[in-house]
Amino acid sequence: MNLKIAVLSGDGVGPEVILQAKKALYAVGVVYEHDFIFEDALVGAIAIDKAGSPLPEQTLNLCLNTDAVLLGAIGDPKYDTDSNAKVRPEQGLLRLRKELGLYANIRPLKPFKSLVDVSPLKREIVEGVDFIIYRELTAGLYFGEKKINESGTIASDLCEYTEGEISKIAHLAFKSAQNRRKKVTLVDMANVLETSRLWRNVVKKIGADYPDVTLDFLYADNAAKQIISNPKQFDVILTENLFGDILSDEASVITGSIGVLPSASLGEKNALFEPVHGSYPHAKGRNIANPFAAILSAAMLLEHFGLNEEAKKVYEGVEKAIEYNVVTIDLNPDSKFGTNEVGEFVSNFILNKDDLMYF
Ligand code: IPM
Ligand code: MN
Repeated sequence: MNLKIAVLSGDGVGPEVILQAKKALYAVGVVYEHDFIFEDALVGAIAIDKAGSPLPEQTLNLCLNTDAVLLGAIGDPKYDTDSNAKVRPEQGLLRLRKELGLYANIRPLKPFKSLVDVSPLKREIVEGVDFIIYRELTAGLYFGEKKINESGTIASDLCEYTEGEISKIAHLAFKSAQNRRKKVTLVDMANVLETSRLWRNVVKKIGADYPDVTLDFLYADNAAKQIISNPKQFDVILTENLFGDILSDEASVITGSIGVLPSASLGEKNALFEPVHGSYPHAKGRNIANPFAAILSAAMLLEHFGLNEEAKKVYEGVEKAIEYNVVTIDLNPDSKFGTNEVGEFVSNFILNKDDLMYF
């Protein structure tokens, strides 16, 4: 298969972890005879520095005309201290999601067996967890009108959803549940928010088309509690943009490290794959960031194009690395391995190199 992949490494540890994901894809290309063509482009803080915009037109055009986008991370602390900054790195990612129409953000959460004890949660809670979050990604509070009055004392963000926006992602969530344990949980605040009540009505209506799938509802505050007290109950969690962002970071606690969580963002025509974690500025350039989330995002990319055997191989490479304890310090504080060695191990595994015992 020929695939043109736009590579947007972004900020912080983005370039380091994306390099490892590229190595894994390159290895897959060699072993399974695919032609993956990578093209690099700027996004985020580095794009502001080098091209004056968090999403230069050149980057956007490239992404609109590729098969897939592989993205690292976005964000730089120098913008966090300046709440008045007019241009922010995050705007690049948000605009990219909007322009590519990536309305569904998919975040699977299934802890690796041998990492169960890395989680701060009890073994009984973590073992057997396997759910997937469908987060709406191009509407809601993130994209509604933003206002601040002249004296800077009153601000507002509008949260708006249309029936169409809700139904597109709801269908994907139900279809996913049909191939899993057949349960969708809609997370909302229907006791307070009008948009949540619309979500409930639309999702209930769509649920009727999927009679084999059970639909239940949970308020977001309760969901936040249940996700760490009883995560096994979940199969597919469907939710709006902001709740999905917060709950997916929270859910990462189950796996023991946010450094192992991949995501896919899908639209009608485009697809983007990125780690759930952020730019982790303190780790930049120190060869300590966990490359698994980026590598597993590459596996999701392969799966998206129906390359299931290839995706499985990448996943097994990560499993093997964990089994051999070739992991970064977030998973094992005594580890002597860094981003690069861990990534190297995974790509060597994909290449079927028999010198893995070297580790
Ligand atoms: C994520 C990130 C982004 C979000 C930020 C960087 C805008 O936290 O992808 O989860 O909130 O969507
Ligand atoms: Mn987030």
